[in-house]
Amino acid sequence: MVLGVEGMYLTKEEERILGGEDGWAKAKALEVIVKVGESLGAERLVNIEHAHISGVSYRNIGKHGEELIKSFADSGVRFSVKATVNPIGFDLEDPSSIPYATIDESYVGHQYNILTSLKAMGADLTLSCTPYYFPQVTSIKEGASVAWGESNAVLYANTVLGLRTNREGGPISLMAAITGKTYYYGLHLEENRVPRVEYVLDNKNNMDEADYGVLGEVIASIHEGINPPYLDISLDEISLREFLAALGAAGNLAMVYINGVTRGRVKKGELKKEMIYRKEIEDRREELGVKERPDLIYFGCPHAGVEDLRVIALQLKATKKKFDGKIVVTTSRGTIARLGKETIGILRSHGVRLIGDTCLVVSPFGYKGLRIATNSYKSLYYLSKRGIKVSLLSIRELRDVIEGW
Ligand code: F3S
Repeated sequence: MVLGVEGMYLTKEEERILGGEDGWAKAKALEVIVKVGESLGAERLVNIEHAHISGVSYRNIGKHGEELIKSFADSGVRFSVKATVNPIGFDLEDPSSIPYATIDESYVGHQYNILTSLKAMGADLTLSCTPYYFPQVTSIKEGASVAWGESNAVLYANTVLGLRTNREGGPISLMAAITGKTYYYGLHLEENRVPRVEYVLDNKNNMDEADYGVLGEVIASIHEGINPPYLDISLDEISLREFLAALGAAGNLAMVYINGVTRGRVKKGELKKEMIYRKEIEDRREELGVKERPDLIYFGCPHAGVEDLRVIALQLKATKKKFDGKIVVTTSRGTIARLGKETIGILRSHGVRLIGDTCLVVSPFGYKGLRIATNSYKSLYYLSKRGIKVSLLSIRELRDVIEGW
């Protein structure tokens, strides 16, 4: 190893890349990673096995982001590791499918340019924020370092899959895909993955995914430091995903240690204990609950899995009502392909709008004053910032609201 200019130890190969022997694009990408790593105090880089690239929706990154990605692609550089990609700004099969959104030809063109550049560099265009449901990701060996953007996916990777990643921003996840490296810092180090505080719920009976979203908000507001909080809770896949997404939206956490889910040893006797009272969660749920008739009901943030769609279909089966696109679910193409005929049939016959490749947050959706109800704390968090009136509604509460619709 050799010492870099500012103090980070670099291998001969890394020095060679920085010197431009593999082209300017790879040198530039590595320089960015080294500089960020040095500013954080990282002593070296670490090889990664996969990257998940966020920040790819034209709505979010605009012309500058499009040009940055294009400049790398035009240089001829290729990704050094396999890379999946977060949702874009519309459904590729039907750009007009997002309600309350104006998507013109120019917007579509810019978004396609971004995709063309990513594809040219070797990206796997999964266009989903749930890369953890794709076999090319679940087959990565536990303990491997990866570089993922998208906070819900980062939490899932560290907490459930046993992968090691910090919460990378869109540009860093792109540079990491190009170089196959990131800085050895944060959750790549074992000592930062050990919980020190256990949060004890006085009553965890009968909690739904929206309750778990609120629990995520509560923990994010009180937990300090990078080490994961410890929880002894038992939750289904939908609640797990909504809980992790809420933690990521409401705070900076990148991992939780859930007993029975997260691998690794914990010295329970050494954990400091903090109580969380169910009353606090119930009061917040009440505050965020549906008070007026929503214009739209939204599920699928993070992208809905097969189980979500099966449970939504079960709720709808009991009614003969049709919803003419007023119930929207965003998901991945992979999940749509795996849906059973019965589920698809029920969703279609009830007029549920199933949208792929995008979501209401990363698309140009909504207007000030629009009322939506969702089971996703994360989408409530972000869509509320646009002036949209968002309330929380779990899937099991769906029937109560639609009966009066
Ligand atoms: Fe995914 Fe969009 Fe939510 S990218 S996590 S569905 S904000």
